[in-house]
Amino acid sequence: MELKWLALVLVVLSLGAGLCDGCLEEERSALFQLKPFFEFINYKFQPNNFELNPKKESSSNCCEWERVECNPITGRVTHLFLNYSGYNKMDWYLNASLFLPFEELQSLSLIGNSIAGCVVNQGFERLSLKLDKLENLDLSENYFNDSILASLSELSSLKSLNLAYNILTGSNPTNESNNNWMNLKELYLGGNEINSLGSLFHGKEGMKLNKLEVLSLYDNLFNNSIFPSLAVLSNLKSLDLSYNQLEGAIYTKDLNALSNLEDLILSGNEVNGFIPSQGIRLMNLKVVDLSRNDFNNSIMSSLATLSNLKTLWIDIYQCNGLIDMKGKNHPSPHPQYFYFLKKKKEILNE
Ligand SMILES: *[C@@H]1O[C@H](CO)[C@@H](O)[C@H](O)[C@H]1NC(C)=O
Ligand SMILES: *[C@@H]1O[C@H](CO)[C@@H](O)[C@H](O)[C@H]1NC(C)=O
Ligand SMILES: *[C@@H]1O[C@H](CO)[C@@H](O)[C@H](O)[C@H]1NC(C)=O
Ligand SMILES: *[C@@H]1O[C@H](CO)[C@@H](O)[C@H](O)[C@H]1NC(C)=O
Ligand SMILES: *[C@@H]1O[C@H](CO)[C@@H](O)[C@H](O)[C@H]1NC(C)=O
Ligand SMILES: *[C@@H]1O[C@H](CO)[C@@H](O)[C@H](O)[C@H]1NC(C)=O
Repeated sequence: MELKWLALVLVVLSLGAGLCDGCLEEERSALFQLKPFFEFINYKFQPNNFELNPKKESSSNCCEWERVECNPITGRVTHLFLNYSGYNKMDWYLNASLFLPFEELQSLSLIGNSIAGCVVNQGFERLSLKLDKLENLDLSENYFNDSILASLSELSSLKSLNLAYNILTGSNPTNESNNNWMNLKELYLGGNEINSLGSLFHGKEGMKLNKLEVLSLYDNLFNNSIFPSLAVLSNLKSLDLSYNQLEGAIYTKDLNALSNLEDLILSGNEVNGFIPSQGIRLMNLKVVDLSRNDFNNSIMSSLATLSNLKTLWIDIYQCNGLIDMKGKNHPSPHPQYFYFLKKKKEILNE
């Protein structure tokens, strides 16, 4: 009687969870379908030399793989770290449907895989209904062009989207105004060739990206005309416009709508003035980086109006040269990036 009961419990458990060696069988086979594209998916990552340690290769429990993280209770895959995982491949097209079985996926990182785009009809739009827990998507250091924006537009669960170091230009707009990123908090577009964001900040049915807190646009081609278009981002806390084509005076009235702004990074431009508007604005600004611009010491009186400023980077030049050098260097990117830059130049020049 007791044995029978125990057997029943065991049957129920194995049916209910559908677990095979810790990870779900259907997810395990989906991971093996990804292996031709992401060779290291079941390997142990060796951070210093990119060498593989065969002994650490593949366990039958995919939840133990270095690049896979599972929910310990359900055994379902929640994180996939496929960074720099297929770099012997060149300019290939991703079939995003291969990720469909991972219904509990929260984070997907595809950094540095030389992906040129998605297979026709198998883009990220395919994931929007099933992967409704996907919060972090990192596609940086690939060769995605502007058409990726439409493909991502339905992923409404996204909180963080990273498209830094791709080949976006903003000049071939698909219908960006159709995005449904109502939960998006962080958007990284640095290291592209973008000069205009078009209607990217105005989503479906007039929805604005009003949860957006972090916007990173460094190393693009923006000029001063970017500022009015940022005004809809009322919750923005951090804005990085370093290494763009800003020049002359920045009128802070253009920034007044950003009343929550805490970090403003404008280094590496040709800005020479920071003209305050009437009234007390930008009260929350704590960190301002104006290094590597064209300021002289007349700037100090304008900056004095920023009463909560805690950290300021600025280089000030006078006729007799540099008087105050507190500039910092732009953080240097991943070593692989130099290969990427060369390739990106080739693609953009084609
Ligand atoms: C993309 O992947 C899905 C799911 O595995 C598959 O059904 C489909 O045939 C694939 N399409 C292409 C073009 O490879
Ligand atoms: C992969 O990316 C994730 C974030 O997307 C990061 O936390 C992790 O350190 C990266 N791993 C490698 C090996 O680059
Ligand atoms: C953008 O990439 C897609 C593939 O994802 C390709 O079909 C299209 O031709 C590319 N567009 C441009 C303007 O290069
Ligand atoms: C873009 O989407 C908006 C909102 O759905 C629509 O009104 C507009 O006609 C679309 N524009 C283009 C060029 O498809
Ligand atoms: C600034 O950029 C916008 C958008 O690309 C462009 O239309 C405009 O001509 C640029 N203005 C200047 C002064 O370069
Ligand atoms: C300092 O910079 C401001 C703004 O560019 C300019 O109007 C002023 O003439 C400059 N002063 C000196 C001493 O160069």
